[in-house]
Amino acid sequence: MREWFDQIPDRRRIGAVKWDVKENELPMWVADMDFAAAPAIRAALENRVAHGVFGYSDLPAAWNDAYVAWWRRRHGLEMDPDALIFTTGVIPAISTAVRKLTTPAEKAVVLTPVYNIFFNSIVNNGRVPVEVPLLYANGRYEIDFPALEAALADPQVSLLIFCNPHNPVGRIWTRAELAAVGELCKKHGVTVISDEIHCDITLPGTGYVPFAAAGETCAAISVTCLSPGKCFNLAGLGSAAVYVPDPFLRHKMWRALNTDEVAEPNAFAVEATLAAFNESEDWVNEMNAYVAESRRFAEDYIREKIPALVPVHGEATYLMWIDCAAVTDDAADFCRRLREETGLFLNAGNVYGKTGETFVRLNLATSRKNVEDGMDRLRRFVNA
Ligand SMILES: Cc1ncc(COP(=O)(O)O)c(C=O)c1O
Repeated sequence: MREWFDQIPDRRRIGAVKWDVKENELPMWVADMDFAAAPAIRAALENRVAHGVFGYSDLPAAWNDAYVAWWRRRHGLEMDPDALIFTTGVIPAISTAVRKLTTPAEKAVVLTPVYNIFFNSIVNNGRVPVEVPLLYANGRYEIDFPALEAALADPQVSLLIFCNPHNPVGRIWTRAELAAVGELCKKHGVTVISDEIHCDITLPGTGYVPFAAAGETCAAISVTCLSPGKCFNLAGLGSAAVYVPDPFLRHKMWRALNTDEVAEPNAFAVEATLAAFNESEDWVNEMNAYVAESRRFAEDYIREKIPALVPVHGEATYLMWIDCAAVTDDAADFCRRLREETGLFLNAGNVYGKTGETFVRLNLATSRKNVEDGMDRLRRFVNA
C-alpha cells in the first residue's frame, strides 16, 4: 500500500501548523505526518460526522479494551483496564502531573537533548528544569547514570520526565536501562512520567519496552503517557491516556486531570482511537516500513553526499537527528539560513537543551519525493 504514503494530500491553506509556509518552502519540522490517516479511521470519523449530533461524549469500556489489547499484542504488557485514564493529550497530562506531583520551585529532571515542550510544562508551572545530558559517543546516545543519580539526589528534585523512545535522538531504551532508571528514582523518592507517544514508530522488527514493563519498581513509581496521536497521525483530535498501575498515584492523576478539565473526550476522540487500535495495525506496519526506507535513504544520502554532517541512527520515531558540529556552532543560525536560501524548514537543536546546539531535527514522515527534495536542498546548502 505504498500509495498511502507516496500520495500525500496538499496540506497548505487548511490551517496545518506544519504547512503554514511560503510556496517554495518544504517544511520538515514539527512532529506530525503528511500521510492521510488509515482508511478505517477515516471511515469511522465519516460515520460520526454523518450522524450530525455532536454533544458530550462518554467513554465506553471499549476504549480501555482497545489500549489493553494493543499493548498486550504489540508490546507484551498486560495492563489493568481500570488503570487507564483518558486525557486530551500527552502534554496536557504532563503539565497536570507537574502541578499535582511537585510543588512550586521544586525541580524536574529531563535527559537532554529532549522534546522541547517538556521544558514548557516545567517552567510554565513555576518549577525548575534540571538537564542531565545524555552521553553521545560513536553516533549513539546513552544515559549518564552517575550524572542522573547526582541530579536525583537533590532533595528538591521530585519528578523525572522521561521519553521512551526518545525524541529527538531516536533511542529505544533497553529493559536494563529502564530498570536502572526506575531503581534510582525509587531510591531518591522521584516519580517518573514516561512519555511513550512515539512507541509504535519503530524500525520494522524492533519493539520498545514500556517503562512499566521493566519491573515492579518501574510500574509502582510511574505515570505512563500513551496516545494514538503520533503513530496514527491524529494529533489534532485530542486523544490520549495515562496508565498508572499504582492505585495511590492513579487517584492523584485522576483527580488532577479532572481538576484541570482535560479528562473528557470530544465527539471524535473515542471513534478515532477505537478504529486506530482495533482496525489499523496493517497501516502502522506499512507506515513503519515506508519511514524506515526513507530513513535508510536519507542516512545513506548524507553519508555519501553531505559528509560534513553525521546522521544519528534512529531506532524509533520518524525524526532524524543530524550532527552539524563540523559546519556550525549555532544550529538556530544554520536553520535560519538554510530556510532563507533553500526553503527547507528544519528544527534547530538548540530548543532541545544545551547539548542540541549543533544538531538539527528533520521529520521523515512525508512522501519519498519530499524526502529526496529535502536531502537535495540540504546538500546544496551545506556543500556551498
Ligand atoms: C515526546 C512527545 N510528547 C508529546 C508530544 C505531544 O503530545 P500531545 O499532542 O498528545 O500533547 C510530542 C509531539 O511532538 C512529542 O514528541
